[in-house]
Amino acid sequence: MDFDYLKNSLPTTPAFVFDSNIISSNLRALVDLKNQSACKALYSIKALPLEQVLKLASYYLDGLSVSSLFEARLAKEILSGSGSIHITTPGLREHEFKEISTICSHISFNSSSQSQRLQKTNKQASLGLRVNPKLSFANDQRFDPCRPNSKLGIALNTLNNIPENIDGLHFHTVFSNTDYQPLEQTIILLEQKFGSQLTQLKWLNIGGGYLFPQIKNQQAFINLITRLKNQYNLGIFIEPGKAIVGNAGFLVSSVIDCFVADGKTIVVLDTSVNHNPEVFEYQKSPELLETEKQGKYSCLLVGSSCLAGDIFGEYTFQHPPKIGDRLTFSNVGAYSLIKANRFNGYNLPDVYWVDEDNKVSLIKQSDYQDYRQQW
Ligand SMILES: Cc1ncc(COP(=O)(O)O)c(C=O)c1O
Repeated sequence: MDFDYLKNSLPTTPAFVFDSNIISSNLRALVDLKNQSACKALYSIKALPLEQVLKLASYYLDGLSVSSLFEARLAKEILSGSGSIHITTPGLREHEFKEISTICSHISFNSSSQSQRLQKTNKQASLGLRVNPKLSFANDQRFDPCRPNSKLGIALNTLNNIPENIDGLHFHTVFSNTDYQPLEQTIILLEQKFGSQLTQLKWLNIGGGYLFPQIKNQQAFINLITRLKNQYNLGIFIEPGKAIVGNAGFLVSSVIDCFVADGKTIVVLDTSVNHNPEVFEYQKSPELLETEKQGKYSCLLVGSSCLAGDIFGEYTFQHPPKIGDRLTFSNVGAYSLIKANRFNGYNLPDVYWVDEDNKVSLIKQSDYQDYRQQW
């Protein structure tokens, strides 16, 4: 796809563009990994629950993983009975549990208290526990599930035995990881803790957090999963999100103002961090297609909202961006559109889908009526 042509031919910005060819290529890489290791793969729909993505993912994979009743209902509609639906969340509500346990094939309770209160009303799901190995691999507590006092899962060192009525265990401990060391360490810990008790289980869900298709050497994963499967007779599930959609999403924006503040060029875009809130949440600058490392002009790209910290970051260019230019953030397919909001009354970005024939279609466009209806 000629992205320069595509971005300049979009009638309006800001716009998200999701390329189905990249998503399919990620999914095919996962299928390869599945075939080599005999694990099952689910798509974690929280990353981007766009119908087109869910349909593609459910074609290639074994089901979907969800975090709430609404996500579960959506997964059920998409799969219509032809795949697994896994859920784990600190947010299970008693009044929703009956329906959740009818829709979901696998439920991993997040705490002992949640498990004790809710398992008696389970309808037909296979029950598991989310455990927290307390092995931190992130250097930022904001996205470290193993942080001190973590709310995510039962601390492994507080669990003496696997309860008899429990079919499976779940853990999810990393974010955007590109090697399998954390997984190996976590499995060693699990085996030290439970040893042959693991044969009591039917399944183990090892979460998401790995950028599977981008990992060059898959042998460590294949060896580990094959051994676990054979040694303990376990069904192993992975549930990536970002690995499937992250590099397939682009946010195209237009420059709407340029000026100098305290000697620095400020370039105002028609998007904002509210269209990709992780930029602000984690204070990270997204990749920009048009930036040139050796460029002699340095500019601060900022969003249109009133928030002083609505800043994408400092980027360098060969020529200074001018009003009307289009700039494209890449690798923003996960956790962007799903978290986007209309703060300050700025519209949500349009959403485009690039199909397998490279045909580009507008699939979503909000307007004032949507904003009005919300309020
Ligand atoms: C329990 C669980 N599973 C899977 C995922 C998907 O993670 P990722 O998108 O990093 O692969 C998450 C992300 O937060 C999660 O919390």
